[in-house]
Amino acid sequence: MLDFEYHTPTHVVFGKHSVEKVGNLIQEQGCKKVLIHYGGGSAKRSGLLDRVAKSLETVGVDYIMLGGVVPNPRLGLVREGIALCRKEGVDFILAVGGGSVIDSSKAIGYGLANEGDVWQYYAKKQAPPVCTPIGAILTIAAAGSEMSDSSVITNEDGWLKRGLSSECCRCKFAIMDPTLTYTLPAYQTASGAADIMMHTMERYFTAVDTPMSLTDQLAESLLRSVMKDVTAALKNPEDYDARAGLMWASSLSHNGLMGCGTDGGDWASHQLEHELGGKYDVAHGAGLCAVWGSWARSVMPANPARFAKFAVNVMGVEAGADDTETANRGIDAMEAFFQSIGMPTRINQMGIDLSEEDMRELAYKCTYMDTRKIGKFVSLDRDAIYDIYKLARA
Ligand code: NZQ
Ligand code: ZN
Repeated sequence: MLDFEYHTPTHVVFGKHSVEKVGNLIQEQGCKKVLIHYGGGSAKRSGLLDRVAKSLETVGVDYIMLGGVVPNPRLGLVREGIALCRKEGVDFILAVGGGSVIDSSKAIGYGLANEGDVWQYYAKKQAPPVCTPIGAILTIAAAGSEMSDSSVITNEDGWLKRGLSSECCRCKFAIMDPTLTYTLPAYQTASGAADIMMHTMERYFTAVDTPMSLTDQLAESLLRSVMKDVTAALKNPEDYDARAGLMWASSLSHNGLMGCGTDGGDWASHQLEHELGGKYDVAHGAGLCAVWGSWARSVMPANPARFAKFAVNVMGVEAGADDTETANRGIDAMEAFFQSIGMPTRINQMGIDLSEEDMRELAYKCTYMDTRKIGKFVSLDRDAIYDIYKLARA
């Protein structure tokens, strides 16, 4: 195993009625004015925004609101948010929503706390030195942004979806009430669960020969638990224990715990999805499911034993004649599970008909215009990326 650092400064407030604690939590931050940032309307329709506003009013904290964040959140609204916050003297951002709203809040936080255009950070021209403090009220178990150091923003100019990691954006607090997720459409529940699983699987498929055994076992257990909970939540959307399991897994899967003692993970599937999300606006978790099996079949020969371990310990398949046979059974079983929760396992199942030219463009953009390779389990160049898109196409 490798040496590691682990830092998760987010104060988690978990459970029923935790929303009403938001006023006090913000007051503890000692801020003057809050931006309440939200999405396309679910938080308004459910009455959540009213509850949040009331809690802030009770403790006398001033606030303004900005909604309209869309999945694969856009740079345009981020810039609008930065200008609004400057004008209004905002010094704390409260994200009420899922990964998209939290990520949009983080981007506004970077822009507000620093000089210059915020995209410079996502374009990796320089690292953001600071970020305006952020808190989150989570409404979907998925991206893990509530405890992660990441944010992902889409620039409408070129439809580039780009991620940025920095310790300074981690949420000061995250309020997690599983009952808030009862209203999720089944597709979002499933897509979110797939993303949770992928955050652990990206780290599990490491290039390190002897990853930490404890981390492996935590990962395998988290994956089995998410498969059980998402199945239960799809059957009964108001199954509190299943929703709670998913919500906590969302955070634990992406706060760094699942990568302790490894090399930080592979992340090729995420890079492959980010190009699909940027160009075709697919749900992130669904896009991951659509490419994972093709990625797995392409890279598995580099270390069949690792995939065989996954097959037996996570998917519960019987070992075959050798590691390769077991590994292939595990990949088939994972895809069958994704299908069982209504997720695509090929790109055309999301209604996207990729042409040769499309696949070449996606591969080119995925290498940041031929300036990088992706993945650690196997390092993939532009041609290898193209091959995976082709395998995943239909
Ligand atoms: O906008 P509203 O109306 O709220 O609807 C949302 C949205 O349509 C809906 N929704 C959320 N909570 C709901 C609800 N509908 C009913 N009831 C509720 N309680 O669900 C839809 C999806 O929301 P979104 O925030 O986009 O979901 P998710 O959390 O999956 O976030 C996806 C984004 O996060 C990025 C993805 O790339 C994508 O852009 N990621 C962020 C990461 C991070 N910051 O660490 C890591 C991930 O790998 C991921 O890349
Ligand atoms: Zn993800």
